[in-house]
Amino acid sequence: MEEVKIYDEYTSSVFEGAENDPDNLVVVKNLKKYFPIKSSFFKITVGNVKAVDDVSFKIKRGTTMGLVGESGCGKSTIGRTILRLIEKTDGQVFINGKDIFSLSKNDLRKERPNIQIIFQDPYASLSPRLPIGEIIGEAVREHGIVPREEFDDYISRVMEACGLPDYYKPRYPHEFSGGQRQRICIARALALNPDFILCDEPVSALDVSIQAQIINLLKDLQKQFGLTYLFISHDLSVVEYISDTVGVMYLGNMVEFAPTEKIYANPKHPYTEALFSAIPVPDPDYKVNRIILEGSIPSPANPPSGCKFHTRCRKCMEVCKYLAPDFKELEPEHFCACHLYNTPERQKELDEAVAKIKKEKETKAAEGHGKKAKK
Ligand SMILES: Nc1ncnc2c1ncn2[C@@H]1O[C@H](COP(=O)(O)OP(=O)(O)O)[C@@H](O)[C@H]1O
Ligand code: SF4
Ligand SMILES: [Mg+2]
Repeated sequence: MEEVKIYDEYTSSVFEGAENDPDNLVVVKNLKKYFPIKSSFFKITVGNVKAVDDVSFKIKRGTTMGLVGESGCGKSTIGRTILRLIEKTDGQVFINGKDIFSLSKNDLRKERPNIQIIFQDPYASLSPRLPIGEIIGEAVREHGIVPREEFDDYISRVMEACGLPDYYKPRYPHEFSGGQRQRICIARALALNPDFILCDEPVSALDVSIQAQIINLLKDLQKQFGLTYLFISHDLSVVEYISDTVGVMYLGNMVEFAPTEKIYANPKHPYTEALFSAIPVPDPDYKVNRIILEGSIPSPANPPSGCKFHTRCRKCMEVCKYLAPDFKELEPEHFCACHLYNTPERQKELDEAVAKIKKEKETKAAEGHGKKAKK
């Protein structure tokens, strides 16, 4: 089937000029990251995995933004792209007002200590051959964060802030539990005195009892050092606890973005509604109104036309099958991409566009039949 043309850009420029507001530490505008799919023969690009497909959001200094969505929806790719660990396909990322993708290699190197990352698996990101004092201090030395004579003292203080006594310094990663290893990773990030830390599923591999300790440590450090976090997780309860704002992703799109209390109390997008209805509530008298999502998540290499969620949405309308909804501000600071919230004027415009697309398709189909009949 021929691909239906997208009538409008998915995201309008909702964050125009947001990078000039010094309150915003991170501003992401219309970010795209496509991974080419190569044929096994001749290695020709035959398509793209649209892992991140026109995503916009902003994070205020000293706050935490949670990023949620089913596995494979593009959360980690957003994280890796905004830290410029991988190159973007399109869009802009500003950290501290600086466009990350226009920095030279040298300027990016200078910026690196300021933007740190913590991963899900702390063991995989710790060198087994180095004692932890060295692991935490290595980059501190490389970037000259403190004068040489203050180095030892500084590392001890950072470790202490992360709940690690300084006599652990000569010990090796394998001597520690999962929770302590995550503390080591946090200490390594914190030692570089960053503004921003990307936390990619930082507690998903830990026991539930340990998870709370690490989350509380992250919260304490945020208060103490004014840190800003992007917190990626599929655990909606953890995200509610730690985040000031939450972004919900579906198949590479940001479908909703709002302050935590607003989005949890009053989700506007049908996908958010379904996702949040599955959160367990610790009250036996509570009537569960769980919305079951039908079907499996489509492939980002071949996403549905129009609204990418239309194949699973219980509120799907005709327009949803043809045209992607705009990402727009429904209430102050509450953004959503769904045709349910179109103004009557916009809906009329879109209905006309759908009628035109359908007519074009019919004409083409009739022409095709005509050609066949001639043969
Ligand atoms: N390096 C890569 N090459 C090709 N496809 C990738 C690569 N990294 C991620 N993807 C694809 O991009 C999509 C998003 O992945 P990811 O960002 O890891 O999702 P999440 O973190 O939400 O689980 C997935 O379909 C994944 O297979
Ligand atoms: S745009 Fe349509 S299909 Fe998409 S979430 Fe909204 S109602 Fe559902
Ligand atoms: Mg991931």
